[in-house]
Amino acid sequence: MYDHLTVVKHPLVQHKLTLMRKKDTSTASFRRLLREISHLLAYEVTREMPMTTEVIETPLCEMEAPVIEGKKLALVSILRAGNGLLDGILDLIPAARVGFVGLYRDEATLKPVQYYYKVPDNLGERLVIAVDPMLATGNSSAAAVDLLKQDGATDIRFLCLLAAPEGVERMRQAHPDVPIITAALDDHLNEKGYIVPGLGDAGDRMFGTK
Ligand code: URA
Repeated sequence: MYDHLTVVKHPLVQHKLTLMRKKDTSTASFRRLLREISHLLAYEVTREMPMTTEVIETPLCEMEAPVIEGKKLALVSILRAGNGLLDGILDLIPAARVGFVGLYRDEATLKPVQYYYKVPDNLGERLVIAVDPMLATGNSSAAAVDLLKQDGATDIRFLCLLAAPEGVERMRQAHPDVPIITAALDDHLNEKGYIVPGLGDAGDRMFGTK
């Protein structure tokens, strides 16, 4: 449907996502499921990382073994819900540098307002993975990617849990060079900017706030 969008259809991802969508899923379960899904999404988003080899010794012999080439990585969490995905990815890539972009959505205009920005240096040399569970209007995602590009980032991927067609289209128009990886493409946004069928407010469900 969109050639810059990858929907990860793995049964484990889809099953866990269904559990997360259920309105009665507890905060603790929601958080645990998000962490588990983020492991599986991290697997997908890092699939094309450049590889090289190094000579190692196994207990039996020398061999030339595959290793990741060492392109520097930056994970950028779009606060606050991005932190749920971030934690899981850090389980798999503990050495990654981490940045944070704080944008809140003005509930009247649905437009992003920046309140925090702190990212690793030399973004231009890094694979930058921006994470936010919900790609809804796409306004804050596009604004976050704008900021990363202004800082020199050229190799950016956007990882989310759920995407709305409106957000995917917004990102395609603003940043056609940024691939999007998600667990599901939902139906639409409602008048309040929530993804439908969605899972509600990801931050509230993750942190138990209202
Ligand atoms: N942010 C959320 O947390 N949920 C939505 O449905 C849309 C934006």
